[in-house]
Amino acid sequence: MALDIVIMAAGKGTRMKSGLPKVLHRLAGRSLLDHVLDTTATLGPERTLVVTGHGAEQVDRVVAAHGAQAVLQSPQLGTGHAIQQVVPQLGEAGTTLILNGDVPLIEAATASALAQACGDAQLALLTIILPDASGYGRILRAPDGAVLGIVEHKDASPAQRQIREVYTGMMAAPTALLKRWVMALRNDNAQGEFYLTDIVAMAVAQGVPVVASPAPDETGVLGVNSPLQLADLERRLQRRRAEALLEAGVRLADPARFDLRGTLSHGQDVEIDVGCVFEGQVHLGEGVRIGAHCVLRNASLAAGVVIQPFTHIDGATLGAGTQVGPFARLRPGAALAEDVHIGNFVEVKNSTLARGAKANHLAYLGDASVGERVNYGAGSITANYDGANKHLTVIEADVHIGSNCVLVAPVTIRAGGTVGGGSTITRATEAGKLTVARGKQVTIPGWKRPVKAKRP
Ligand code: UD1
Ligand code: CA
Repeated sequence: MALDIVIMAAGKGTRMKSGLPKVLHRLAGRSLLDHVLDTTATLGPERTLVVTGHGAEQVDRVVAAHGAQAVLQSPQLGTGHAIQQVVPQLGEAGTTLILNGDVPLIEAATASALAQACGDAQLALLTIILPDASGYGRILRAPDGAVLGIVEHKDASPAQRQIREVYTGMMAAPTALLKRWVMALRNDNAQGEFYLTDIVAMAVAQGVPVVASPAPDETGVLGVNSPLQLADLERRLQRRRAEALLEAGVRLADPARFDLRGTLSHGQDVEIDVGCVFEGQVHLGEGVRIGAHCVLRNASLAAGVVIQPFTHIDGATLGAGTQVGPFARLRPGAALAEDVHIGNFVEVKNSTLARGAKANHLAYLGDASVGERVNYGAGSITANYDGANKHLTVIEADVHIGSNCVLVAPVTIRAGGTVGGGSTITRATEAGKLTVARGKQVTIPGWKRPVKAKRP
């Protein structure tokens, strides 16, 4: 059965009070529309059409990134009018599944069941029973339970407003019939819009069976209309992700204070304290412990790594047993081998540190290659940037760099050498020797502290 999917995403989203088109607001780090398109891709549709309008230029870029097709609706005269715009693009037969760009957590199984319920021959509506149905289109049923139509909240009588069974905004229709129906819609209603929901009464009048299938859970059909609803959906999604990780054995100190905005793979016995954010692709090996309030993006941590609180890690790989933080920053290209120690207020960028290397306090390593067991002193930096180009610093194995040194790249510190505190190093040092490059300490005999001149 050929399946076409239409995602309506032309609306303005006034209540977001934002310059950004509504469907581009982010949920767990991805736009609302990205979530829907990720899900529809798993259904194997013939074509995916996205109706765009407000902010079409920006929205179209997301659509194109998924290989879907954008269809402009301008002006926006209602959901029925939105579907009218895609009529020329739809297939001849098969099923059309209609989803919303601002209902991001629709499950693939629910969408697929809806398409199945249509089965080329019936109109299938996804419905839900809500304690407070106000604002929604209500499902009208005959005394025998047969669906008769949908009435929009603004057009509903007081008695109809008592109905709590609502249309979620998602349906599946036989494509050939859908095309005929939407072209016959009129806009003589409370909002002067072309209501897609009016096709239900048309189907009933033509003897086409209408099935209302209840959504399996509320979260999958919740729409985003306001920042409050977006934040609520974010917490629901994060709660789900946290619960899945807890199920899988990850010990989260508090599932309510956990955010995953990408994918997290893990070994056994991983512990994550409160307030951590994970972005992109993160891997935590067996026994990894993450302290409170850390941000990790695109990082791979081998077994036994310990991250102390308030550490920021982006684009880094950490070898087994390595310890980082608190208050450390690993930037892209930081590659730490086994048993490396990075302490507080240390920044590492595009540098490799071999097994057992240590930089425990207040230091910068940029574009450096650091050998095994190197000890890099407090306050020391690589001066890797000459204002135009970046240069490499090589620190060979077993070197000790004292405190407050400046290593002016390109430069090599040879194996086993020691650099005295406060040195500015501009040339290669000798292996196994002490190198000092600073003014010699002197004591000035007979010097007197100045005193304030007396006023005449
Ligand atoms: C719609 C349904 C209502 C249902 C509710 C569920 C209609 C007439 N009513 O109402 O029965 O209970 O959804 O949330 O369909 N859109 C366009 N172009 C337009 C108008 C809307 O693309 O001209 C898009 C919007 O961006 C949105 C979706 O269609 O993604 C729904 O539009 P919205 O205005 O939110 O519909 P409701 O009035 O909430
Ligand atoms: Ca509306």
